Amino acid sequence: MNMLEGDVVLVLGGGSGLGLGIARHCIAEGARVAIMEIAEEKLAALKPELGAEVLLFHGDVTSVEDLTACRRAVVERWGRLNALIGSQGIFDGNVPLREVPVERVAPLFDELFHVNVLGYFLAARVFGDLLEDSAGAIVLTSSVAAYAADGGGLMYTATKGAVVSAVRQLALEFAPRVRVNGVAPGAIADSQLRGPRALGLDHFKQSDVPKDAMLATYRTLSLMRELPTPLEYAPIYAFLASRHNTVVTGQTVLLEQGALNRAMLSAPGMTGGVGAGLTPRP
Ligand SMILES: NC(=O)c1ccc[n+]([C@@H]2O[C@H](COP(=O)([O-])OP(=O)(O)OC[C@H]3O[C@@H](n4cnc5c(N)ncnc54)[C@H](O)[C@@H]3O)[C@@H](O)[C@H]2O)c1
Repeated sequence: MNMLEGDVVLVLGGGSGLGLGIARHCIAEGARVAIMEIAEEKLAALKPELGAEVLLFHGDVTSVEDLTACRRAVVERWGRLNALIGSQGIFDGNVPLREVPVERVAPLFDELFHVNVLGYFLAARVFGDLLEDSAGAIVLTSSVAAYAADGGGLMYTATKGAVVSAVRQLALEFAPRVRVNGVAPGAIADSQLRGPRALGLDHFKQSDVPKDAMLATYRTLSLMRELPTPLEYAPIYAFLASRHNTVVTGQTVLLEQGALNRAMLSAPGMTGGVGAGLTPRP
C-alpha cells in the first residue's frame, strides 16, 4: 500500500535532516511533494536527486509573503494540498539563561519563537483553507525537549512545549475536517540543526559534533543502540499526514527511544534501593 498515493504534501524545512527524510519517504509513499526551505544552497544540491517532480521552494517560514508565494506555487502546480508537515527549526545552543547576556535574552527569544513556533502558526493560517478543502492533515515537530529538561536551553525547550500546546488548540480549531498532530523526536542522525544568530552561534550545526561522541551520549541516555535516522522517523509522519489516520488528532507522539524510561535504582552507581543485596528468603 502506498500510504500517500496521489496526495500533495508540503514539507517546511525539508532541505536537510528530518524534513528531507520525511520528504524522501513521502515520495516513496506516492505523494507529490513540495519543500519550502530557507537555505537556497540545500535546494540547489537536492535538485539533481529530486528532479522537477518535486517543487523546491526557496522561502522563509516566518514570512507571510514567502508562505503566500509558496501557496501560489503549490496551487498552480497541483491545485490542492493534502498535508502540511512542519519540520523547520533552529537550536538555542543549550546556553543556560544565567549565561545569556541580559540584552540578548529578547533577541534569542524572538529568533527561536519566530522559526520554531510562529512559522508553524503562519503556515497553518496560510494553508489551512486548502487543508479544509481536502480534509487533510497537519503534522508539526516538537521534541523530547518539551517533556524533560536539558534537551536544549530554555528557549528551545519552551518553543517545543509551545508546539505541543499548539497541536491541541489547532486540532480543536480545524476539527472536524483537518487532523492536527505532532511528533516529538529524540535524537536525530544527520541533523544540521543550527545554533542561534542572537548568540553568534549560527555557524554551529549538530552535524559538527563528532558522530562517535553523539552516539556515545545517545547510548548513555536512551534504551536503544543506534541514533535513529530521519528515514526511520518518517513513516510516523506519513501515517499522521495520510487519509489512513482517522483516529488521531490533537496528539503529539513522543519518540524518545526510552530516554525518559531509564533505569533508576538499578543504574550503575546506584544503591539498588531498599532490600538490594539481601538474600531472598526461601
Ligand atoms: N536534531 C535533533 O536531534 C532533533 C531532535 C528533536 C527534534 N528536532 C526538531 O526536528 C526538526 C528538524 O530539525 P533537524 O534536526 O532535521 O535540523 P536541520 O537543520 O537539518 O533541518 C531543519 C531545516 O529547517 C530549515 N529552516 C530553518 N529555518 C527556516 C526558516 N525560517 N524557513 C524555512 N526553513 C528553515 C533549515 O535550513 C534546515 O534545512 C526541528 O524542528 C528540530 O527542532 C531535532
